[in-house]
Amino acid sequence: MKAKRTSILLDLHPALTNITGEVLQGLTAQPKKLPPKLFYDDRGSQLFESICDLPEYYLTRTEIGILTSSAQEIAALLGPEVLLIEYGSGNSRKIRILLDALKHQAVGYVPIDISRESLADAASLILADYPKLKVAAICADYTQSVALPALPFTYRKPVVFFPGSTIGNFQPHEALAFLKSVAALLQKDGLLLIGVDLKKDARVLNAAYNDAQGVTAEFNLNLLRRLNREFQADFIVDNFRHLAFYNPHRNCIEMHLQSQFAQTVCIGGKKITFSPWETIHTEDSFKYSVDEFTQLASQAGMVPERIWTDPNEWFAVALFQVQ
Ligand SMILES: C[S@@+](CC[C@H](N)C(=O)[O-])C[C@H]1O[C@@H](n2cnc3c(N)ncnc32)[C@H](O)[C@@H]1O
Repeated sequence: MKAKRTSILLDLHPALTNITGEVLQGLTAQPKKLPPKLFYDDRGSQLFESICDLPEYYLTRTEIGILTSSAQEIAALLGPEVLLIEYGSGNSRKIRILLDALKHQAVGYVPIDISRESLADAASLILADYPKLKVAAICADYTQSVALPALPFTYRKPVVFFPGSTIGNFQPHEALAFLKSVAALLQKDGLLLIGVDLKKDARVLNAAYNDAQGVTAEFNLNLLRRLNREFQADFIVDNFRHLAFYNPHRNCIEMHLQSQFAQTVCIGGKKITFSPWETIHTEDSFKYSVDEFTQLASQAGMVPERIWTDPNEWFAVALFQVQ
């Protein structure tokens, strides 16, 4: 009987106690804030998948369009025997475009994500669909440094794939620190293929984060449900509302949960008071111009090999090489 192939799953997920400190610190800060990584419990990951298919959420279909039309060119630039390392891999949908174009050029795939169940499911599906590929999934928080484990196979070149404009969720100085850590992991001549959402008409941006079906609102509010379930909080979810708007002074979409009136919430035995209309800042999504992002990457020691955009110039997929 043929042995069933399984992916390696390395679990570096931070313990809940570590995150509890971050949650309490955020909720007692002025203004109140929570880290966006908290969105991604099982339900949050499912809701994000639904967001990707919304008509207003141009990001996913635009990036997929760019990747699909440039896949052969990307495959030629990556060369043979590559190890693909994907940060924030989610359902691993976009890597398939690269794997299909790379054919046997890809020897290994290392998806890294904080959402354990969706990571494990996605890794199993990739393993089933690409029988020759070695898959080693890492459940980790990429805002902490993630070292590559010893892999039981050889490869010529590591390539980091970071799609979805997830880089936009970092403050620009954090994005720089993150890019530097990627450069250190890749080392000289390593490649970064990254998706970056570009500056555009605020009406398009505002619609993308305020969809008519209310899925993004549910994704944002799910964070409170998660705090109730996993952090012994007693938020009444209906007492908060989703708020998302483009802030042109900061070049980002700000996402908040807004208290509808004065209220007190208990979490981990601590009382948190909210004044009317006070918000918890849950996410920023920074938008860049191609030049701004190229400059940021150059400060991290990377030079652009090739940058692709869609015809509207709403989104860029860029290939950088570490110097
Ligand atoms: C915006 S979604 C993008 C998903 C997918 N890459 C795409 O392009 O559609 C962000 C992904 O990063 C993961 N994620 C968010 N914060 C993370 C963190 N601090 N460490 C590891 N993964 C994280 C989420 O679970 C989610 O899968």
